[in-house]
Order: sequence, then structure tokens, then C-alpha cells
Amino acid sequence: MKIAVIGAGNVGGALGKAFSGAGHEVTYAARDRAKAVSRAQEAGAGAAASSADAVTGADAVILAVPFTAIVDVTAEIAHAISGKLVIDVTNPIKPDYSGLSTVGGPSGAEVVAASLPGARVVKGFNTIFASNQANGVAHGHVLDALYATDDDDAAAEFTKLAASIGFRPVKVGPLSAAAELEAMAWLNIRLQMLANGAWDSAFVLLAPPAAALA
Ligand SMILES: NC(=O)c1ccc[n+]([C@@H]2O[C@H](COP(=O)([O-])OP(=O)(O)OC[C@H]3O[C@@H](n4cnc5c(N)ncnc54)[C@H](OP(=O)(O)O)[C@@H]3O)[C@@H](O)[C@H]2O)c1
Repeated sequence: MKIAVIGAGNVGGALGKAFSGAGHEVTYAARDRAKAVSRAQEAGAGAAASSADAVTGADAVILAVPFTAIVDVTAEIAHAISGKLVIDVTNPIKPDYSGLSTVGGPSGAEVVAASLPGARVVKGFNTIFASNQANGVAHGHVLDALYATDDDDAAAEFTKLAASIGFRPVKVGPLSAAAELEAMAWLNIRLQMLANGAWDSAFVLLAPPAAALA
């Protein structure tokens, strides 16, 4: 699959490298093109001149930027996004790390979907720390790639993509369930901050219903 990775930080680096290693054609975009080029060299991937250029040639788009950048990034790519799979990895954490900025309103993923008409949006990989995103196996377990979407075809595509890099995809519900996935991510982040952890804790759901694994 042709995958555009928007954002060349921890998440973009880990997921782009994993997908490139699994045989997907990855193209990075970042606001600083030198960072996109550097990540691309590490991952055996390409680098586009802009987010819009990266998206134009892609089947799937990974949003790996701070949630505060979503307004700008979605405005830049909206014209080229119709029909494409968009994987929203962002967590809408407040800049002071005191909680989620979306409490009481739509989830971050629903904000993304509203900003990208025609896109097939999946919330996914946001519950997995970047330290564990490049490989689905950690601490002796296959980790869960919990995801939420309203689109059945997008669910099937996400399932294949997540499995291709070693995760067990688990569908937790429609896109509105992204609120719970974002809360789970925040729980894990807060635990690491409170307990001065190693930032490698991860979720594995025991005995999920078979339909969630289809
Ligand atoms: N780190 C994790 O373990 C983890 C796990 C799951 C989900 N997430 C979520 O994933 C997202 C990315 O996290 P990260 O740790 O990879 O962050 P990061 O290391 O800070 O990287 C963010 C990337 O986004 C770019 N960016 C920032 N503003 C932008 C804009 N307006 N337009 C285009 N690109 C922009 C940054 O560019 P510059 O370098 O130029 O600033 C950088 O390349 C966040 O929403 C985070 O909550 C993180």
C-alpha cells in the first residue's frame, strides 16, 4: 500500500519504518522537509515536498502530528483526501499535560473526520507508545492495535496494515469510540508520568469477542 506519513517525530519515525520494512511504499511529509528526508533515509522511504504532495500519491495517510496542528494539517490536505484511508494517531493532550482537551466535546478523531470530508477515518495506534509501534511484539506479547471507525472497508484495510507490522487489530467500535481510545492513551501517559516509568507499558485485551478480531 502507498502510505503517506505526515509528521516525522517519534510516531512518524516508528510507524513509517515499520510499514516500509513490511513492504509498503512510505512517503514522509513534515513542515521541515529536512526532517522528512532524514526519516525517509532511516526508513528506506521517500520524502515529499509537502503534506499535500504526500497525500496526493497515497492510498492511506497517517496523521502523526500534535493534535494542536490538526487544523493546519487537515486544511492543507483536505482537497486531496476524498476516499482515502486516514489513520488518526493523534492524542488531544492539553499542552500542559493536565488531561485531554476534548473532554465534553467530540473526540479528536471526530474533529479530524469533520475536517476531512470524504476521508475514511480510523482512530488507531494512538494507544501504543512510539517505543512499541515499530514492532507488534513487546514484553513477550503480541500487542493490540485497538481501533475505531465507521467505515467497514477502512476497518478491513486497517486490519491488514496493523497485522502486516505484527499487531493484533481489535475493533472497539464506531468512530465515536475514539473518545475511549484517547482516554486510554491518556491513562497510560499519566501512569508513566506519575510513576516515572519507562514509557513502554501497553494494552492487551484478554478474550475480546471474535467479531472484534474479524
Ligand atoms: N509519542 C508517543 O508515544 C505517541 C503514541 C501515540 C500517539 N501519539 C500522538 O501522535 C502524535 C505525534 O506524536 P510524536 O510523539 O510523534 O510527536 P513529535 O515527536 O513531537 O512529532 C510531531 C511531528 O509533527 C510535526 N508537526 C508539528 N506541527 C506541525 C504542523 N503544523 N504541520 C506539519 N507537521 C507538524 C513536527 O514537526 P517539527 O519537528 O518541525 O515540530 C514533528 O515532525 C501526537 O498527536 C501524539 O499525541 C504519540
